[in-house]
Amino acid sequence: MINVKNLWKSYGSLTVLKGLDLTVNEGETVVILGRSGVGKSVLLRQILGIELPDKGDVHVNDMDISKMNETERYEAIKRMGMLFQGAALFDSMTVGENVAFYLRQHNKELSENEIQERVAHSLDVVNLADMQKKMPSDLSGGMRKRAALARVIIYSPKIILYDEPTTGLDPITAQHINELINHTQEKLKATSIVVTHDIRSALQVGDRLAFHHEGKIYLIAGKKEFLESKDPILEEFFADAILSEKYLQKILK
Ligand SMILES: Nc1ncnc2c1ncn2[C@@H]1O[C@H](COP(=O)(O)OP(=O)(O)O)[C@@H](O)[C@H]1O
Ligand SMILES: [Mg+2]
Repeated sequence: MINVKNLWKSYGSLTVLKGLDLTVNEGETVVILGRSGVGKSVLLRQILGIELPDKGDVHVNDMDISKMNETERYEAIKRMGMLFQGAALFDSMTVGENVAFYLRQHNKELSENEIQERVAHSLDVVNLADMQKKMPSDLSGGMRKRAALARVIIYSPKIILYDEPTTGLDPITAQHINELINHTQEKLKATSIVVTHDIRSALQVGDRLAFHHEGKIYLIAGKKEFLESKDPILEEFFADAILSEKYLQKILK
């Protein structure tokens, strides 16, 4: 479904992606883990096609994103959902109008009634039914993330890219977002990439985990193999995460 091959990207003298390979199968959720500044958001931007790589291929659904013209690329981007880091909502629009925004752009033929129905449904899914008329400034951080998620799931994209969906949230809100990601996954049968440095979140939503390190995917594997790896680079990364035995048993069962 998503096939990234030998991807290179530099900004001036800084080379961020150094021949990165990644395959995500249809219906799968792959979590990309890695330290801050390693190039996770840069990778998502190349997959989404909002930035072009210096070298390498990005195939989505067997189509080469980097060789499309503007119109084709716009059509491809429309079929993907992206939850950006920071979950930027438009501050001057109500929550409901925010959620309707991409749906309106992508589906010009929908009637106002249909749009309102789908907005109500999406807000209901993320548990914000009573916030439709509120402004983004009335929402907490977690609510903003949920509203941003509602804005994505409303057009049922087949591919969803999440950039740090739980960063900056308290553990309970983060947990709620993880559950929503899993719920969305089940419902839409989407193919997803979740970027995070939150290991708990990774274990909760990922079918496979990929470790982004020094411009490449250093390891892509199932959770068990990942957690049991004796590789010093991975062990160092995991050393920061204190996971209880009980939690690990639950995750790995
Ligand atoms: N548009 C840009 N121009 C210049 N440097 C950039 C740009 N985007 C990202 N970078 C740099 O690339 C590196 C990786 O950034 P990013 O992908 O945002 O990291 P993260 O893994 O935390 O998401 C950082 O050093 C960042 O400063
Ligand atoms: Mg980032």
